[in-house]
Amino acid sequence: MLQKLDELFKEFQNTLNTINTQADVLNLKSEYLGKKGPISDILKGLKNATVEERKDLGPKANQIKNEIQELTVKKLAFIETEAINQKLASEKIDTSLLNSVMVHGQEHGGFHPITKIQQEIEDIFLSMGFGILDGPHIEDEFHNFEALNVPSDHPARDMQDTFWLQGSETPEGERHLLRTHTSCVQVHGMLANKPPFKFIAPGKVFRCERTDASHESVFHQLEGMLVGKDISVGNLIYFMKTLLSEIFKKEVEVRLRPGFFPFVEPGFELDIRCLICNGKGCSVCKQVGWVELLPCGMVHPNVLKAGNIDPNEWNGFAFGLGLDRLVMMRYGIDDIRHLQSGDVRFVSQFKSY
Ligand code: DAH
Repeated sequence: MLQKLDELFKEFQNTLNTINTQADVLNLKSEYLGKKGPISDILKGLKNATVEERKDLGPKANQIKNEIQELTVKKLAFIETEAINQKLASEKIDTSLLNSVMVHGQEHGGFHPITKIQQEIEDIFLSMGFGILDGPHIEDEFHNFEALNVPSDHPARDMQDTFWLQGSETPEGERHLLRTHTSCVQVHGMLANKPPFKFIAPGKVFRCERTDASHESVFHQLEGMLVGKDISVGNLIYFMKTLLSEIFKKEVEVRLRPGFFPFVEPGFELDIRCLICNGKGCSVCKQVGWVELLPCGMVHPNVLKAGNIDPNEWNGFAFGLGLDRLVMMRYGIDDIRHLQSGDVRFVSQFKSY
């Protein structure tokens, strides 16, 4: 009888290995463990067995019953996992297909080169621990000018031709405008955070200007601000060089010139050696071998004060990167107006980048 039990168990295992549906597994289990099954038969026969036989047979039959239960549960779980895996494999979405040329006979779009470069720069700054902030396109005079150390009678207001929004004055007489730069996000950032902090703020900016090959009325900037203790011009240069060599995938030569911006003191124009002609002189660098790329400087104490930050305790740097110019440098584009032309022949060239 003991041998019979072992044989039954082997038989159960063999059959279990050949079946693949949960229904079959459940049927097999009840076939072996059911009231009319072979194991029950053996247990029923126990009453006729000798005391000696009962001693071994009872525990053995129970052990085999338990093992059958266990194997059944395992097999059911296995079948379920297999089904899920198969479903996942068959329903897998190949996201790279979105970039292929035709799906259902229609051409697929891609990211605009400005969006791509913005995402790349965001990744670089995220890896250096910067946050990313967003700000409104419609601003008030306080955020766009006043808090940035540009009072209403300051000649620097004329540096940026502004789109004023008619009829947008508050009862206090404050006018609204389309932001002329992303520097106003510095103000939002300072008022919302306690130092130390560091963030970037990419976005569209607007200037009421005549357009030409290097000027657009809507363009893109990426502002950056770092506020901490004992920050130096050396720190500023380090971050800017790291950024530029990551973007251009090689060490770039930079030079600093003094530059005037009311919100920084000292202020700089950071130029890079022209990558189109390697500094020999070409139309992109206007034959000088250097391209003005990154205005920056040490945050003016008045700006920190407007952001509720004590300039005796904290200092920092800020920069404003022009994304359109960067894209033009990278791809050798000679007219900024192509970027927003909406011409599919132009943008489709960047799909595979
Ligand atoms: N907001 C300036 C512009 O649009 C660019 C700029 C210059 C931003 C110097 C800065 C800076 O943060 O430090 O012309």
